[in-house]
Amino acid sequence: MAILDVRNLTVDFNLDDGGTLRAVDDSSFTIERGEVMGLVGESGSGKSVTALAIMRLLDSQADITAGQILFDGEDLAAKSEAEMRAIRGRRISMVFQEPMTSLNPAYTVGDQVSEVFRAHFDMGFGESKQRAIEMFERVKIPQPKDTYGKFPHEFSGGMRQRVMIAIALACGPDLLIADEPTTALDVTIQAQVLSVIQDLQRDMGLALLFISHDLEVVAQLCDKVAVMYGARIMEVSESTELFSSPRHPYTDGLLRSIPRRGQPLTPIAGTIFDLRSPPDGCRFHPRCPYAEDRCRREMPELRVVEPVAASTDPGSSGDSGGTGDRRQAACHFPLTGAGAKA
Ligand SMILES: Nc1ncnc2c1ncn2[C@@H]1O[C@H](COP(=O)(O)OP(=O)(O)OP(=O)(O)O)[C@@H](O)[C@H]1O
Ligand SMILES: [Mg+2]
Repeated sequence: MAILDVRNLTVDFNLDDGGTLRAVDDSSFTIERGEVMGLVGESGSGKSVTALAIMRLLDSQADITAGQILFDGEDLAAKSEAEMRAIRGRRISMVFQEPMTSLNPAYTVGDQVSEVFRAHFDMGFGESKQRAIEMFERVKIPQPKDTYGKFPHEFSGGMRQRVMIAIALACGPDLLIADEPTTALDVTIQAQVLSVIQDLQRDMGLALLFISHDLEVVAQLCDKVAVMYGARIMEVSESTELFSSPRHPYTDGLLRSIPRRGQPLTPIAGTIFDLRSPPDGCRFHPRCPYAEDRCRREMPELRVVEPVAASTDPGSSGDSGGTGDRRQAACHFPLTGAGAKA
């Protein structure tokens, strides 16, 4: 059983003017135990709202209006806030983009990590302090013992993000959600923090939902990738296959928009639509170079797509049981490789 099985998740915001905005629309994906899944897509496509829905941390204007979030077989969408408090931080944790806003400036970082142990386990002060220091070692903070008594403002952004990772992983969760965890950091620090996340993911056998704008980092880190556009999942694929032969024209456009040395950048023409008034048919059709009449009329569902050819698509025709590791695209006319159309 997948550790996370999101089925037809739909999240609506109730806007002040009385309208609604569907920020996540009928979204389905699974993450296996120990698997790293990337979630990518342009700004505003619904990545963070997806993460916050799983954590049940949506703000009061937002509701999960359909679907299930099966975590280890239990539907988080149906849990009470008290039940979620026992799961959050203990079995599912989240790391956000900006570590300063998540740490309490008034308490030492040691207090904030050891508090996690005392809140979730029957642990005294001495033991929780010892465990906090061990966590500082695991996230490779230099002088972990001296770190214990320091306040958040005494650290750089990269070190604060390590403290956040220590807090998130203190209880040995099954699933970590990292939403742009290194975007606020400068490039060399980003690489260090990513390697801390990657090492701990492997050591702890963590399932990881990794949200990022940075497709190159996603390619390095993730086993599998889901691509979102305008609140909908457009493609789910093993990472290597997604990057070598995207099946959805939107994925193809995203990959072409990555700056590569010596190659011109080709941004996707047009802009994302207003989520309050989505286009009919495929959400991407106004920007899609391959759109046909059917695309303007009929919304394509996410479905398993046939492999392109045995040589370019080895993972999808194999003997694996579930649909989780087969290629899925929400497109009437999926690409067949190198930008060519079926
Ligand atoms: N508090 C809110 N009130 C109303 N609409 C919201 C609110 N928060 C998010 N939205 C809407 O939900 C959509 C999805 O937002 P979300 O934060 O998930 O995007 P994202 O993919 O994480 O983008 P980014 O890459 O910029 O972080 C946004 O386009 C926005 O229209
Ligand atoms: Mg976001």
